[in-house]
Amino acid sequence: MTDTTIEQATAAKSGAAATEQFRSRRAAGAAGSDTERVDTLVTELLTAAHDIVRRHKVTYEEYNALKAWLIQVGEDGEWPLFLDVWVEHVVEEVANESREGSKGTIEGPYYVPDSPRLPAEATLPMRENEAGTPLLFQGQVRSVDGTPLPAAKVEIWHADDDGFYSQFAPGLPEWNLRGTVVADETGRFWIHTVQPAPYQIPTDGACGSLIAAAGWHAWRPAHLHLKVSAPGHQLITTQLYFKGGTHVENDIASAVKPELILDPKPTGKGDNHEVTYDFVLDKA
Ligand code: DHB
Ligand code: FE
Repeated sequence: MTDTTIEQATAAKSGAAATEQFRSRRAAGAAGSDTERVDTLVTELLTAAHDIVRRHKVTYEEYNALKAWLIQVGEDGEWPLFLDVWVEHVVEEVANESREGSKGTIEGPYYVPDSPRLPAEATLPMRENEAGTPLLFQGQVRSVDGTPLPAAKVEIWHADDDGFYSQFAPGLPEWNLRGTVVADETGRFWIHTVQPAPYQIPTDGACGSLIAAAGWHAWRPAHLHLKVSAPGHQLITTQLYFKGGTHVENDIASAVKPELILDPKPTGKGDNHEVTYDFVLDKA
């Protein structure tokens, strides 16, 4: 990739695109509100904030810095990024605490529904000579009782070898490294793709200023995103990581779980790697 493309792609454009994407999907399914619930949650949140101000004797200077920063998060379109990095992992933990099947983790801001439908063995849409180690990701989708789930849907999306997502970073083909794979009659699938690179959350917007101000790093380990579903079963949203990869131990989004770490092996053909991962879905 040229320097110009990298510069354009890391501009707060990803944030703005994530905000637009979230808004367009949210409009269809806006939930109603329950006054008592809103009262409880917002009161507790504010009480926690008041407590921090008292305990740490927060100054007017700090309060105004916070105000300016919150305004900037909105202007940069970075609310989806901020929330999905620092809050979503706990919402996911609570949502899936009683599941018996495969572990889930955060969705993140870069899912796009209705990606191209592909057969059980398929190569994800990619550019000619797409950079990265070729990876065969294969497995089977089963129910918690062990029954294979025919025609399960495996939606997959991931960043490219530069850590960029199609439809959020400029210059990538629309559906690059995104697809909806329909498993065969035994629930099996074989997905040919390339290993993604670690992902750095945009450093040039409000989230980047926070990271710099707090002395944190901006990285997520390389990951595949998945939504796996089948009739009569609960959809699982998850991610899979790569053993030994940078930042697997210190993901800024706190979304790594030991059950979600892949260990692809060389196939012996060129630099190709392959890995098997089965999904187990809870009944609806
Ligand atoms: C963010 C990006 C991701 O790719 C992801 O999986 C989770 C969060 C983010 O920038 O907020
Ligand atoms: Fe991601």
